[in-house]
Order: sequence, then structure tokens, then C-alpha cells
Amino acid sequence: MIDLHSHMLPGIDDGAADLRISLAMARMAVADGVEVQACTPHILPGLYHNTGPQIRAATRELQRRLDENDIPLRLITGADVHLAPDLAEGLRSGRILSLADTRYVLVEPPHHVAPLRLVDFFFNVLLAGYVPILTHPERLSWIDTHSAAIEQLFHGGVWMQITAGSLIGAFGRGPRYWAERMLDEGRVHILASDAHGIGRRRPNLGQGRDAVAKRLGDEAAIDMVLTRPLGILENLPPSHMPAPGPGGCGGFRRDETSLRSRKQYGGGNANKVDAYQDGDAGGWRDVIGRVRAIFQ
Ligand SMILES: [Fe+2]
Repeated sequence: MIDLHSHMLPGIDDGAADLRISLAMARMAVADGVEVQACTPHILPGLYHNTGPQIRAATRELQRRLDENDIPLRLITGADVHLAPDLAEGLRSGRILSLADTRYVLVEPPHHVAPLRLVDFFFNVLLAGYVPILTHPERLSWIDTHSAAIEQLFHGGVWMQITAGSLIGAFGRGPRYWAERMLDEGRVHILASDAHGIGRRRPNLGQGRDAVAKRLGDEAAIDMVLTRPLGILENLPPSHMPAPGPGGCGGFRRDETSLRSRKQYGGGNANKVDAYQDGDAGGWRDVIGRVRAIFQ
């Protein structure tokens, strides 16, 4: 799996407090079946003053420590970017990081207050040529009263990332309800751990993937933890990836792209989630080969 959202870098936000925790989180992620981990610390002016160059340096250093400790996890850079009017400019200047320097960027609105001009903000980011990925809309305390705005963003081309923990009740009933509802309505592109440590918010992408598989089937779950994340690392346009929801849409046909060929996920075994965990299918290894190729 590819996990596109975590706070694993030591000591730079409210995630891993120190290197010991970062290494423990990395081991948990690997044990969970994660091969590629995005390090996406908060960028929140006034609270977390992380910049692109700092995040790159911290990611390089953590990768060095992982390699030293024989932890087979490949790190990529990114940021959990809080809503700010100068976001597009920050991305262009390198002060703010997208995911692996692609067109895809994680964006987190305030949790407790619905921002004014929310829709305008996201559309400006889209107009600048980026694909904003709204992080865990299901956890926003104002989603009950503003779900129409979230839906409008979805239809306008904003991607939706829900957090694995929401599906297993780690954040209570509300986030679980909205996460399941968004899944059922076909409005989820990405599932991520948003791991912050080794306690309640530990790396747990596998549990979330299993919850999606139970609800929507294995294919939808694979799309959220592998197919679309891989497409993001390759900086494919959204139209080249499976659209969320039953049957997909948007011109994408499953036989049109090698990315989505069932064979790649293990042919006959593709109906079994374990097939891509155990690596017993040649197809799964092909996909991992492509992930590795990105880094060579
Ligand atoms: Fe986050």
C-alpha cells in the first residue's frame, strides 16, 4: 500500500515526538503492508512554521535512519497544508510542498469553523493547475451543516481523502457516519492513515482498507490505497485514474490503462484483499516494481 498522509517526521508538529517514535511508526507501517509513506507535516502559519526545504531535509534524514535500521519503507515528501490564501503561490515558490512534487496537494480546512469562501478557495487552487485533496472531510465538525459545499467541491474536481481511523470508530460516531456515507455515495478517492504516533492514532491503513473492502468490495479498497496513490506518484491526471463510485466514470475504462488492469493485481486472486498483502500474485509484485521504479 501507499500511505499519502502521516505525521511521521520527528519533532516538527503534533505527530512523532522524537526519532524513536518515528522509527516505531515506520515499523508499524511496514508491518501493516505499507511500502511507500508520505511525510506530510502540518504547515499552519502561527503554529507550525514548516517550510518545503525543512520538510525535504527532515524526510531525507529520516530515510537515512530507516535505511540504517533496515526498515524497508520508502519516504516521499508532502505537507498537510492548512487553508491559506497564498497556497498556490507557496506551491510555486517551493515554500509549500505538494505530494512528491506532483500536481496533488493535501489541504486541510479548519476543523471547527467553516471557512468563508471555501469553494472559491479550492477552485482557485484548481485553476492554478493543482488537484487539492481535501483531508478527512468526515472529521470536520461543520460537515453536518455544510455537506452541500463538500459535495460541490467533489463535483468541481477536488479529491477527497478519508482517514482509516474514522472507519473503525477511532474518532467517534460522527466521523464514522460521514466516512461511511461518503464511501456509499462514491465520493472518496483516497484512504490514508494520518498517523500521528504509536497510540490511538497509529499507522492503521490496513484496518481502513479492510473496512472499505467489506463495504464496497476489494477493488474499491485497492483503488484507494494503491491505484490512485500510485497514479499520484506518477503525476497522472485525474482522468487517467478510476473515478470513485460504482463503475467509475469520467471517460476512464478499466481496459484503457495498464494501471488498472486486473491482471496487475493478481488476476484471479484479485478478488482477495490478501492477494496484494501477501504478494503471492505476480501482478502485485509488478505494481510494487513500478513503485520502486519511480525512485530509481
Ligand atoms: Fe494530518
